[in-house]
Amino acid sequence: MKSTISYILLLFFISLLLMQCRPSSDRKSEIDPLERKIDSVLARMGLEEKIGQTAQRRVLSLENDLIIEETREAVRKGEVGSFLNVMNTDMMDELQRIAVEESHSGVPLLFGRDVIHGFRTVFPIPLGLAATWDPGLVEESAAIAAQEATTNGIRWTFAPMIDISRDARWGRIAESPGEDPYLASLMAGAYVKGFQGENLSSRTSIAACAKHYAGYGAAEGGRDYNSAIIYEQLLRDIYLAPFKAAKDAGVSTFMISFNDLNGVPASGNRLLLKTILRDEWDFDGFVVSDWESITEMIDHGFCTDERDAADKAANAGVDMEMVGRSYENHLGELIQEGRFSESQLDNMVRNILRIKFRLGLFENPYVDRSRDKVVLSDTHLATARKSAIQSLVLLKNKNNLLPLSDGLKKVAVIGPMADAPYEQLGTWSFDGDRKDTRTPLHAIREHLGKEKVLYTPGLAFSRDRSMVGYSQAVSVAKQADVILFFGGEEAILSGEAHSRADISLPGVQEDLIRELKKTGTPVVTVIMAGRPITVNDIIDDIDALMMAWHPGTMGGPAIADVLFGEAEPGGRLPVTWPCVVGQIPIYYNHPNTGRPPLNETFIPIEEIPIGVGQSSLGNTSHYLDAGYLPHFPFGYGLTYTTFDYRNLKLSDTLITLKDTLRVSVTVSNTGSREGTEVVQLYVRDHVGDIVRPVRELKGFQRVFLQPGEKKKICFVLHTDDLAFHNQDMEHVTEPGIFSVWTGRNAHEGLEGSFTIDNDIK
Ligand code: NOJ
Repeated sequence: MKSTISYILLLFFISLLLMQCRPSSDRKSEIDPLERKIDSVLARMGLEEKIGQTAQRRVLSLENDLIIEETREAVRKGEVGSFLNVMNTDMMDELQRIAVEESHSGVPLLFGRDVIHGFRTVFPIPLGLAATWDPGLVEESAAIAAQEATTNGIRWTFAPMIDISRDARWGRIAESPGEDPYLASLMAGAYVKGFQGENLSSRTSIAACAKHYAGYGAAEGGRDYNSAIIYEQLLRDIYLAPFKAAKDAGVSTFMISFNDLNGVPASGNRLLLKTILRDEWDFDGFVVSDWESITEMIDHGFCTDERDAADKAANAGVDMEMVGRSYENHLGELIQEGRFSESQLDNMVRNILRIKFRLGLFENPYVDRSRDKVVLSDTHLATARKSAIQSLVLLKNKNNLLPLSDGLKKVAVIGPMADAPYEQLGTWSFDGDRKDTRTPLHAIREHLGKEKVLYTPGLAFSRDRSMVGYSQAVSVAKQADVILFFGGEEAILSGEAHSRADISLPGVQEDLIRELKKTGTPVVTVIMAGRPITVNDIIDDIDALMMAWHPGTMGGPAIADVLFGEAEPGGRLPVTWPCVVGQIPIYYNHPNTGRPPLNETFIPIEEIPIGVGQSSLGNTSHYLDAGYLPHFPFGYGLTYTTFDYRNLKLSDTLITLKDTLRVSVTVSNTGSREGTEVVQLYVRDHVGDIVRPVRELKGFQRVFLQPGEKKKICFVLHTDDLAFHNQDMEHVTEPGIFSVWTGRNAHEGLEGSFTIDNDIK
């Protein structure tokens, strides 16, 4: 009897073991009907067709109205799995018809495009959307973009871009959610939910793509495509946080980045693609390369030739190749030589088919023509206006110059960005049209009446160095009660490959502002740009300063609403704003160093004494000529009213790792106008197994208050929220002393403290 039981137990364990050894895809398909469908499609595909699924091709613009026979034949033979940038819907349907009806396996094509911050209705650039500190609004904007893009047959966007960036020189900071992992993670989840909707197979949903995986925003020196050097704890705690959030929100695809990360190009990076994405996070969608990023591993000096590049990328885990042809040219031969296996290829194809099934492409492969064109509808424009309003960050407001009164007799509208409909759309707005864009000049004229608005650009564009427009600008300024100067950078000065080493106002804009200031008329400056702009040299000549990023289609009305007080400036900085470019990288959640600056130690360089000992200026971590403080801290943004913080309370000051802490504070509107405060919660872990940041954002709430109204704001802090990666790469919360702040930005706030002690009873 005993031996029979042992025998049965043995059999049971052997079968369990065998189950463990089978590829997980086999096990999945036994239980999951979707996996069974995928397997049945896979079973009817030949090797060439499987390789074809991994190919994403672009259609040359010349072809866009006429599909050349070579492309038809490639689709017919199953050599293409996806196209990017096909915009002619008849052509899309014709290509799809060939794929579905004439190719052997009948697998539908997936059409992708960069729908980054809107489609025809363009929202503020992602950095501006991050400045809204409003994930709900960002989700709405992404859902609108998806609704509009799907009417054009697009079912996959290469967004959200969720690269943390601490460097305003980097042109792609414009596309990023800023510097903070907590805010960026909320934004990442919001974009994914908005694009993908409740159900990916809905005809108004598009598959999202978390990009660029990973470390791209840490390009050394802010020069695009440059190497990223990030120690693994920092990578995991800061740079990967939004990617994990996107994965948790159900993102369908990941795009690998161009850069090398700690010496290994992302396209061949096994740590990123295998260990983290698949093994730890269990991601079951597919990974696409960036544009030719696989073959660029040759230029990186990581691969000898195209074949080697295909080998390294496929073995690392890139499922689809964008534009390059290395998979198409070499995967077959790599399989023959045993450098790569057909079952590995099957898994790549499974990942791709899984998303095509989830999108419902097998049931509904063609462009949905049943819906009326929903682009630029009133509701879409209203959301674009609302998000632009909420993205506007008021940085200076001397003597409460803003909001302006409607009773002004004349306003002077000056500057190269006052009426630049294309430029205010910002980078990556392929489908927005300047004809649909409302500029500040138009909106201000509409608001005040044309006769009250004196307009002259002063400069033809931001880098215009000619001073021919100066005298006209000065004469207009003299006749006005207030000057509204719209400056900044055109769209082309930020975005991919468009980094700048000097991030002040380009050209002679500062000179013009100085000339205008001399007239004695107060100067309001509105900056439109893809990044923070250093204003140290000009700030004293500006009475009020507002950052508008590139605000999109409805930027003009949004700016007018805020300037004239119909709406409040709703934005807060999602990035630290440097005084001078030499302070970069500058970010609020930095470690303390062993010699932290105690006070602002900045003294003008001309006043630094000579002939005195080295230590007379203090041996602390700062710049002699720029101190250590930024111009404006992370989280900063003024309002049209004032708020007061009182009564910071912690539910306990001594907790264990199992406990939850509640932090509350009472916020009152002490001004005479209604207004919204973004109440922010920061924490500092004083001692760690690796050094900890001086502050970390752990929560925020947007709170609307009437004059005189007060509200108790509560945050819940779980001890897991305090976890970080230690020297052994374990994700842990360590007992110890913590500070906590509630306040308006990363440099202010009421402070309290608590201790985590796991030995308390
Ligand atoms: C290259 C860019 O890095 C990426 O963000 C974009 O999605 C692709 N090109 C496709 O346009």
